Amino acid sequence: MIRQVFFGPLIQTNDKEELIIKESVAVFVDNGKITRILENSKDYEKDFQFERKIRDEIKVLSHGQFMMPGFIDAHTHAVQFPNLGLGYNKCLLDWLETYTFPLEKKYSDTEFAERVFETVVKRTIKMGTTTACYFASLYADACAILAKKTAKLGQRAFIGKVNMNIPRDDGYCESTLTSIVDTIGFIKSIEIIGNPLVKPIITPRFALSCDMELMQKLAEIAKTKDIHIQSHVSENKDEIIAVKQAFPHLPSYTAVYDAAGLLTNKTILAHGVYLEDSELAILKERGTAVIHCPSSNTNLKSGLCDVQRLKANGIKVGLGTDASGAATYSMLNEMRSVLQVSNCLFLTRDNYTPLSYKDVFHMATLGSAKALAIDDKVGNLMVGKEFDALIVDMNAEGSLLDNFKEYTLEENFQRFIYAGDERNIVSVYVKGKQVK
Ligand code: GUN
Ligand code: FE
Repeated sequence: MIRQVFFGPLIQTNDKEELIIKESVAVFVDNGKITRILENSKDYEKDFQFERKIRDEIKVLSHGQFMMPGFIDAHTHAVQFPNLGLGYNKCLLDWLETYTFPLEKKYSDTEFAERVFETVVKRTIKMGTTTACYFASLYADACAILAKKTAKLGQRAFIGKVNMNIPRDDGYCESTLTSIVDTIGFIKSIEIIGNPLVKPIITPRFALSCDMELMQKLAEIAKTKDIHIQSHVSENKDEIIAVKQAFPHLPSYTAVYDAAGLLTNKTILAHGVYLEDSELAILKERGTAVIHCPSSNTNLKSGLCDVQRLKANGIKVGLGTDASGAATYSMLNEMRSVLQVSNCLFLTRDNYTPLSYKDVFHMATLGSAKALAIDDKVGNLMVGKEFDALIVDMNAEGSLLDNFKEYTLEENFQRFIYAGDERNIVSVYVKGKQVK
């Protein structure tokens, strides 16, 4: 048994989406699980003499440091790493054809996959992402490589083998049979890795790359194996028109996925910029979450997603970078994009309440955990959950945040959210194990 204790300030949100700031707590962790949290313990030496003898790690945070839950990037593309920052002069469908698909086709080369995925997982961990929900690759071998990397480097992850059976001239597609056989094979390969932190997720790319038969078969696999599902929905106006043309007998984009049986309480759909009221009603009914991807939505000029409307309609909302729709895997950056988009809506609409830094912090942590239905394990630091946490240091080496005056803990937290970067994230823990 590995026993740890962490002393210091703690900042997180609760189920009511409130920001909870504690100046001094002791978090006790046994084999990665939080077993006890004591508040207002100032005299560590005296109070924990006994603990000192039985703990393998005792971490006392220094002045300017605080603990917080790790970031949960609920939608990102591992294969698109080499394209960060490329092609934002285009809109979604052109960008996919010109930049994204040609790059993704290269992952039939497993050596290339190895090199890229090693960097992606290291990079996302460095940015403070303790859980990542990845679109991996069309190719099952490449997907297995990503799963092994996350297991090796200690990141909690959902890995999706991308499914695309609509024929394409460039051959970046697969038959229905290959799609299903490879998906089942990939799920087996994750079972063989046998790491409880790494899970498969069924991943029909979007309604323009899969036919109804394939989507139904994938839904069946998800149901039989009780696993998660992810896709894209209602991201761009031209895309929505094309989906309506491809499925003329169905009333909406969301209705296509619903007809396939893909919408469950373990399904997450990225973007959801233009969802109609009838679609929100379906998502609420099914318990399906929307993952907000504001950087990608603005880079590709897809649109401004109204998160307040989604929340008011009872939809769970998580946060995702959607890299390389976003130019970085940074969840800190993504939180700022949420605020920028929300502020734009405030400036252009009547009676719009903009989101606050507390709201975006919730989205990046417990909000994403709830969207992925893993909030029994992660999202905040509570007894019974696992210790997925960051230690933030306002005085870290190379930090851009100078201390010309005294700041309260809440002020420092605000400064981190708006102006900090990964250099302020000095330690990253996943299930108690230090991964940065
Ligand atoms: N829709 C289908 N595929 C993709 C993708 O790779 N990125 C984004 N942003 N949207 C998509
Ligand atoms: Fe995406």
